[in-house]
Amino acid sequence: MEHNKVAVIGAGLMGSGIAQACAQAGYEVVNIDTFESAIEKAKANIEKLFNKKVAKGSMTEEKKAEILGRLTYSGNFDDVKGAFLVVEAVPEKIEIKKDTFKKLDAAADPETILVSNTSGLSISEIASVTNRPDKVMGAHFFYPAPVMKLLELVRGLVTSDATYAVVKEFAAKIGKTTVDAPEYPGFLVNRILVPMQNEGAFMVMEGCKPEDVDNAMKLGCNHPMGPCELTDFVGIDVMLATMTGLYNGFHDSKYRPCPLLETMVKAGHLGKKSGQGFYKYDENGNKIQ
Ligand code: CAA
Repeated sequence: MEHNKVAVIGAGLMGSGIAQACAQAGYEVVNIDTFESAIEKAKANIEKLFNKKVAKGSMTEEKKAEILGRLTYSGNFDDVKGAFLVVEAVPEKIEIKKDTFKKLDAAADPETILVSNTSGLSISEIASVTNRPDKVMGAHFFYPAPVMKLLELVRGLVTSDATYAVVKEFAAKIGKTTVDAPEYPGFLVNRILVPMQNEGAFMVMEGCKPEDVDNAMKLGCNHPMGPCELTDFVGIDVMLATMTGLYNGFHDSKYRPCPLLETMVKAGHLGKKSGQGFYKYDENGNKIQ
């Protein structure tokens, strides 16, 4: 099978960014989502992002057309046919992931490798619902996926060496540096990063201003974004799901999610994407306070 077509499942913030990264690297990409509204949003976002790059001079009109020409969208899982690799980026809930992998296993060619962009769920458990567990592994991207240089590679109990080698080669082609992460909740980065964001939320709950928490980490540790700003950027719901995964996975109270995050999610304050998180945002995603 030729290694030129990639399918990405899910057109949310992560899925659309992964699809963009693959198209930029020269792959033919189909980005599949069963929600038409997600596809429309993904198309509008990439158009807006590329227009900004063209205006700024970091991309030509020709390059923009060439990349967008390699990127198609679909609502049908059957369009994974012909892809040597499928990257799943659906919401971080084990039942949704398993249901997606069952459907992918039925729709994809038998030799196709299926990777999950989970940020901490068990790869072995996801693989167990397929008839090809040796061809399933984890490849965890970071937001924004086209920009962040790291890809965490996570092998399940029976992921084969051949599968690992193909995914490693794919990572190099899209310009990512890989690290081998253990198959435990949070893998490597999130196990360290997300408790820091959670602690930032606890400090806000205790009365600190988000600006002070963020400035402390930006100016005191040279972080590009502070913990509250980063939580808004990634999505409060995504961060809470990751923290809950650490808590449930390790059965250790040191990973208890901050109640303020739970309240914010219940209120629909999901960060930048909803216009309200620790900060408020206008319709273009710019901070307004
Ligand atoms: N999607 C795609 N590209 C984006 C982007 C986005 N959302 N935001 C910025 N970019 C691109 C811009 O187009 C620009 O590209 P060009 O140079 O080609 O024009 C480039 O990134 C730099 O953008 P800016 O100059 O606007 O902004 P910046 O220099 O301030 O960098 C940033 C922005 C890269 C996001 C930087 O603030 C940063 O590194 N922040 C920290 C991000 C981080 O920690 N990510 C990990 C999150 S945790 C996670 O993802 C794990 C999980 O499981 C939840």
